[in-house]
Amino acid sequence: MSHKYHVFVCGQSRPPGHPRGCCTSRGGGQPLSERLMQKFQEGMLWEKGVSVSQASCLGFCGYGPLMVVYPEGVWYQPKEAADIDEIVASHFGEGKVVERLRVTPSK
Ligand code: FES
Repeated sequence: MSHKYHVFVCGQSRPPGHPRGCCTSRGGGQPLSERLMQKFQEGMLWEKGVSVSQASCLGFCGYGPLMVVYPEGVWYQPKEAADIDEIVASHFGEGKVVERLRVTPSK
């Protein structure tokens, strides 16, 4: 079975003071990946063709917290739990990219 969407979410953690920082320390109280997995379970997103993979560093730490959605290759910078909820409802539910949370990372 092929996936409609495959999401990679950065769950990289680094010690405080590390020059690159990490997505886990940015983005508020609840780590991005935990909220996404919570919504994944609650919404049974696998039945809608969504696959979520916890990744280590995605290479654009300065834009964190980060996740990327394929096949479109849309990068998101969700900063709080409500942003994750909106991505799940809009992108995965309705096929509409959430432009206000979209970023185009570059080095
Ligand atoms: S730590 Fe998340 S992209 Fe590098």
